[in-house]
Amino acid sequence: MTETANQDLEALKAELVGAASAAPDLDALETLRVEALGKKGRVTGLMKALGGLEPEARKEAGRRLNEVKQAVQQAIEARRDDLADAELEARLVKESIDVSLPVRPRPVGRIHPISQTIDEIIAIFGEMGFSVAEGPHIEEDWLNFGALNFPDEHPARQEMDTFYLPSREDGTRLVLRTHTSPVQIRHMQAHEPPIRIIAPGRTFRADSDATHSPMFHQVEGLVIDKTTHMGHLKGTLIEFCRAFFGIDDLPVRFRASYFPFTEPSAEVDIGCSREGGQLVIGPGKDWLEILGSGMVHPNVLRNCGLDPAEYQGYAFGMGIERIAMLKYGIPDLRTFYDSDLRWLRHYGFVPLEAPSVVRGL
Ligand code: PHE
Repeated sequence: MTETANQDLEALKAELVGAASAAPDLDALETLRVEALGKKGRVTGLMKALGGLEPEARKEAGRRLNEVKQAVQQAIEARRDDLADAELEARLVKESIDVSLPVRPRPVGRIHPISQTIDEIIAIFGEMGFSVAEGPHIEEDWLNFGALNFPDEHPARQEMDTFYLPSREDGTRLVLRTHTSPVQIRHMQAHEPPIRIIAPGRTFRADSDATHSPMFHQVEGLVIDKTTHMGHLKGTLIEFCRAFFGIDDLPVRFRASYFPFTEPSAEVDIGCSREGGQLVIGPGKDWLEILGSGMVHPNVLRNCGLDPAEYQGYAFGMGIERIAMLKYGIPDLRTFYDSDLRWLRHYGFVPLEAPSVVRGL
């Protein structure tokens, strides 16, 4: 191999290695690789030309050319690694997360105070062994009134401001249930005692002002077995009132009353104070009515196929809006159904942060 040829090869190697190390990006590097080592590349071209040399010279030239080829190949690979690293580095910098940035506020839904209150009631009675029963909103007149011992022309039927559906062919009418008491009847008809249920749900009466809404919620309770007596009724409801309002020494009073479906019947009042015009629930001089209750009337048991000589028990019922208003200081019943988001943000409960539903038991 001649001296000049050797120098040419050295120069070619230096040029290609230099170009490889200086390639600005992976595309340029690939172009260079094709130009040098591709099928029609400069180094490949020289390799092909070896065939025309004498065996001795070919060996030496081949060795030199291989060196050049390897050097260029290594330079290209090294540059490729560098460029890939740099590219990754650039991406990491660009895509890095600034953990010190404040989070973007995400709108979180609120639990409506009615749902929250129902959950609390279910949790408290659940602890006392009650399960939840439900029934339809559109109810048979018989199940809403008749089976509950309302005589046909009983004034309570009018007092309850019932929404009636048009009469059917046989003259009977469906009603929008005025209380959740028909769920008692349905449950007694379908289940053998012992029975221990609460029935929360919607109820309807044609009445509308700051403390009445044509649609509202009640929770009704029913216990039937062979031995339950008025003492159990009192103990359960005292326990409930204290747990619900979270006041261990909350005074609870039972006042004789009347309901067609219970005998004896009692209204339940809790202690409060109205000093300075402000209502505060707890020990005080005043009383607030919050519940209706009583021992299930023998006629109701009979209407459900139970023998009153064998079975007995108690029932109670209360308005959910009313106790929610008292517990959470909500002044106007109608606002529950205005669907005003500002109201819901104020009075609603943040999921998972809602007050613990079981307290004081
Ligand atoms: N259903 C009654 C009402 O709506 C409440 C109640 C239920 C009273 C059970 C006593 C026993 O007024």
